[in-house]
Amino acid sequence: MRLQRFYEDLTTFHVNCEEPHAYFIPADDRKTAADENRAKSKRFKSLCGVWDFAYFRSPEEIPEPDEQDSVEYEPIEVPRSWQTYTDRNYDVPQYSNCLYPFPFDPPRVPRENPCGLYVKTFTLPEGVYGKRSVYIVFEGVDSGFFLYCNGRFVGYSQVAHMTSEFDLTGFITDGKNEIRVIVLKWTDGSYLEDQDKWRTSGIIREVYLLFRDKAHITDIKTTAELSGDYGKANLHIECKTKGEVSVEAELSYKGTAVSKASGASSVMTVGSPKLWSDETPELYELHLTAGEEHIVIPVGFSDLKVIDRAVYLNGKRIKIKGVNRHDSHPVLGSATPFDHMKEDIMIFKRHNINAVRTSHYPNDPRFALLCDKYGIMMIDETDLEAHGVAMFGPWSRLSDDPEWQTAYLDRVKLMYERDKNHVSVIMWSLGNEAGYGCNQKAMAKYLHENDKKRLVHYEGGNEGYTKGVMQYGVLDVESYMYPPVDFLERYAKDESKKLPMFLCEYCHAMGNGPGDLADYWAAFEKYDALIGGCVWEYTDHSMLTKDGFTYGGDFGEIPHDGNFCVDGLVYPDRRVHTGMLELKQAIKPFEIIAIDAKAGIFEIRNKRVFTTLDDCRLVYTVEQNGRPVFTGCQRLRTAPGKTERIELDLPKVSGFAYINFSVKRKEATEWSPSDYELGHTQITLCEEKAVLGIRADYKVRCLAAERTVAVEVGDTMYVFDNLTGGIAQIICGGKAELEYPSKVSVWRAPTDNDRNIKNDWYRHHFDIASSYVHGDPRITECEDKVTVEYEAVHTGYNDPALLNYKVSYTVYGDGVLVTKYDVKVREGLPFLPSFGVRFVMPEGTERVRYFGYGPMESYVDKRLAAVMGEFSGTVKEQHEPYVRPQENGSHYNTKWAQVYSNAGEGLTFAGDMHFGVSPYGEEKLTGTRHEYELEEDGLAYVAVNYRQSGIGSNSCGPALAEKHRFSEREFSFSFAVKPGVAADTDPYELYGDNRIQ
Ligand code: GAL
Ligand code: MG
Repeated sequence: MRLQRFYEDLTTFHVNCEEPHAYFIPADDRKTAADENRAKSKRFKSLCGVWDFAYFRSPEEIPEPDEQDSVEYEPIEVPRSWQTYTDRNYDVPQYSNCLYPFPFDPPRVPRENPCGLYVKTFTLPEGVYGKRSVYIVFEGVDSGFFLYCNGRFVGYSQVAHMTSEFDLTGFITDGKNEIRVIVLKWTDGSYLEDQDKWRTSGIIREVYLLFRDKAHITDIKTTAELSGDYGKANLHIECKTKGEVSVEAELSYKGTAVSKASGASSVMTVGSPKLWSDETPELYELHLTAGEEHIVIPVGFSDLKVIDRAVYLNGKRIKIKGVNRHDSHPVLGSATPFDHMKEDIMIFKRHNINAVRTSHYPNDPRFALLCDKYGIMMIDETDLEAHGVAMFGPWSRLSDDPEWQTAYLDRVKLMYERDKNHVSVIMWSLGNEAGYGCNQKAMAKYLHENDKKRLVHYEGGNEGYTKGVMQYGVLDVESYMYPPVDFLERYAKDESKKLPMFLCEYCHAMGNGPGDLADYWAAFEKYDALIGGCVWEYTDHSMLTKDGFTYGGDFGEIPHDGNFCVDGLVYPDRRVHTGMLELKQAIKPFEIIAIDAKAGIFEIRNKRVFTTLDDCRLVYTVEQNGRPVFTGCQRLRTAPGKTERIELDLPKVSGFAYINFSVKRKEATEWSPSDYELGHTQITLCEEKAVLGIRADYKVRCLAAERTVAVEVGDTMYVFDNLTGGIAQIICGGKAELEYPSKVSVWRAPTDNDRNIKNDWYRHHFDIASSYVHGDPRITECEDKVTVEYEAVHTGYNDPALLNYKVSYTVYGDGVLVTKYDVKVREGLPFLPSFGVRFVMPEGTERVRYFGYGPMESYVDKRLAAVMGEFSGTVKEQHEPYVRPQENGSHYNTKWAQVYSNAGEGLTFAGDMHFGVSPYGEEKLTGTRHEYELEEDGLAYVAVNYRQSGIGSNSCGPALAEKHRFSEREFSFSFAVKPGVAADTDPYELYGDNRIQ
């Protein structure tokens, strides 16, 4: 079929479309107009659901309209991306980060341009035909489309994530009507839609009809002006109309009218307006009547200013505790149903998130309504990215080309006009990663002319790209991605910088991570000029197939960017990652510090800006050696920004004792049950080792052989391996505790954040290095103990030894084995992933109990959510199912751990360790590409590490901070092992064993 080449034309983006305007749904009465469910309105008819669909490899393959009946259609859901039907023969999902997955030949696009023919029939409700004007609204079609109604061409539109509306009145009949939509995968707009995402296509947002009075309101703009003391507000209402219609306006607050006005343009005065903020999402309802139509939109009053490089909302300095959110659904692709969006907002609220950057395009229009309602500040981003250009440069090629300006302006206008009334929008974004030039300047000018309040953000215009020239008057904040913390500090201290710094992306949350939230938040809180930022990113993007969660390359696409799309704080199905729990703690709304912990004196500071902590209670528990010994709770009254003293009559404690404070919201909310924890703080009361009474129950006997040295004590036998220096076997009461001999390892299954450093690690064979012994074992025998020592090296091939070490095993009369390593790391090596011993325990080893940072995985730099405590569970439960397998589930600062069978038999380990147990082990986690490919073998893989390097966020962020790297060159590591029934061993006593040094 011959289509007009609007899609390769830099002057035509929309044919016969209505002018862009504010989002609203007219209704017949006020109640339905105000309903969150827009389908309640009789003037709204959804066309979502099943459509007929046929896929073609290019528009030329689509038969002419009169032959389209012979096409074989398949049912397809609308909205949904067609590539998500991975079992059909449509084109495949393709994940590309920066690269254009097509040749760069603007404004032309490939002739082989996948396209879909969509067909839908509908009947108008009674009383519409002839009486009402009928409009059809597409809220998002990726990437462009031609619309036909009853065989006639209606119009064309593009810009994937924006609304297109057409007047169908002249095309419809009273009987059955038929809509045909031809959707093209690529348009000239695709050059500006090079966002890091799955490149999917189709009708991705809702489609519906609106039945309007012949004369009606076409657009509404509300602007609120607050008096200096916020005592009064003027609300300017400007309506555009089509035809003659009189407009009546009423503003109400919680059902009570506050002000009324008449006319298309009016001003209302509101006394003592309730101010909107993320903490107090106060909304008024603006009710407009025009002819027989009722329209309701929310109105919020807020004051937004930049003073001395800080951002003030309603006169108070605020921080942006944000995330970047893409439209991403594991089954539907980039279609996100209302409930799904709402659940995302609920997850934000549950995790103290107060802002969202709609990376990298405006979201469904109702998403902004949800942000208004629940108090999420929005950085609304233009549907614009041209990352691919940077790959062959200059990056500003399109952005500085006046020929493209209409396209840029079209995009910013579509966003602004649609979303201009939302109080939640605090910043407009000119897009993402598109270089910088005259076109961004024109976009910013457009926004500043139309909007005196919101700030304009664009990372691509920061000093790094503009040779040190700040874009005053164009950009209102200086935005960066992934700078290291010291860069932030330097900026904040540099008074020649006049703009607040906003991190539109930081802490890349890919896989196990991020590990640097604490450091960023310490900086944000220290300097006013650092206004916070948005973590990259909220969700893993993945196509769910019958196997499980996939990522780039799984569909044979060229090019693709592998698993760089699974980099969120939540799994594709919205289970939260531990990184999300970490973020929740980093941005919790309070801080508790000890003034004199022993005396029970603490201080809580309310970090909220507008509200007290009256809605919360403080719950505290003192745990001593893992057991609660004292608990209580008290109400909180702390005023915003203020501190309150807490005095508790604490019991005397000994051993390992901590006080755990938890701030809980008393009442249930829409997103959380009552008693929901907003955050917690742990303060150490004491950490004293127990004193172990040494018992010499048995004589210790040594049986040395060529290959092994066996040491027997009572019913226990340890066998040491003379070749590797490992423990070949531990037998206790006839039960063999090891499936394989123990091994030294410096490895960890690389995390996504290890993606750079791991190349150095592999170069030195850290993954496959093994140990062998130099010379013979040195055996020292006494009646109550036997020591076996080996000198060993740990090495790969064609490379000098990585480690030279001495290991000594001492078996005592009470059956305890104390292991000690003295290690020298070769100079010139990169920092080590870890150092420790790997034990593989036999089938049936299903349980674990430990004392350390838990219950979730914890690392030296990722332990805001975890607390020191005693935890137990199954071995399987320790596994974090990252979409791409990697190191996971281990525990920083573990003092002891027991790994045992359901019957209770196993091994107790004690010492200062970074401990982990996994049903897979590091080799499998290293070598398997997808979670769904991991196979259990029933064994338990135990890692007793001296240290493990931190996690960081180097998958896109800065290199792991020095302080979190494991770069010691010489160290000793000692731990005890005791086989037997776990419950018979007091692990606190074993940890206190002064034979471990
Ligand atoms: C940024 C970009 C994001 C995403 C991220 C890496 O540079 O703005 O869209 O690609 O890197 O995940
Ligand atoms: Mg990009």
